[in-house]
Amino acid sequence: MAVEAAADAEDLDKMERCSNGRRLTLQWHITSRCNLRCKHCYQDNYENPELDFNNLLGIMTQYLELLTALNRKGHINFTGGEPFLREDFFDLLRECKKHASLFSFGILTNGTFLNKEVVEKLRILQPDFLQVSIEGDEETHDAIRGSGNLKRVLNALKLLSEFGIKTLVSFTAHRDNYKSFPKVVELCRKHKVFKVWTDRIVPFGAGEALKQQVLSPEEVWSFLL
Ligand SMILES: C[S@@+](CC[C@H](N)C(=O)[O-])C[C@H]1O[C@@H](n2cnc3c(N)ncnc32)[C@H](O)[C@@H]1O
Repeated sequence: MAVEAAADAEDLDKMERCSNGRRLTLQWHITSRCNLRCKHCYQDNYENPELDFNNLLGIMTQYLELLTALNRKGHINFTGGEPFLREDFFDLLRECKKHASLFSFGILTNGTFLNKEVVEKLRILQPDFLQVSIEGDEETHDAIRGSGNLKRVLNALKLLSEFGIKTLVSFTAHRDNYKSFPKVVELCRKHKVFKVWTDRIVPFGAGEALKQQVLSPEEVWSFLL
């Protein structure tokens, strides 16, 4: 569910890049390492073996071949785990920039590594957007993602906005947090977020412990309306 309306045709095209529209989207989990242990996370293993840089380049080559064969433009969403934990992440993004006419890219991150130096480097690489996750008001968010985390995410949004990088916010809904969604939207408006995205929790991995917190059909209706 997208909360903010797209302003014009160009914005609509950009929204489609991150929501499986006309562009062929690759959601690419480049690492399972993460510095957070979110209560709802679909991962419960943060140490899966990783592909090395050459293997990542091989995947990118295959993706480019697929786009050419299908005569389509693409979009890559880098995710994890936490993508900024990969030491070669910026090298990979530099490779993406070389193919900017064929595919755009966005990054799904917990926002904790986004300081001024990192955001400055990102701006040069022209990502389509950065998506951070917000799970509720400060108390709710920090209970799910760890103490002091909301302040870090809001600081990241502020920096991204200062550097002219488009921001998206993801909200994963369950019984413990869905009532604070309006607060999240309010925060997003204040921080000039382009789009707020929400999905329901999939009780999987660490998130299996929240099985009883999955929204009932009635709660889904009250959440959506
Ligand atoms: C797995 S995270 C990876 C990117 C980054 N580390 C982050 O925290 O946003 C990507 C998105 O998946 C969501 N997510 C994690 N576990 C989930 C689950 N069990 N069901 C639905 N969404 C989930 C997160 O809240 C986040 O918005």
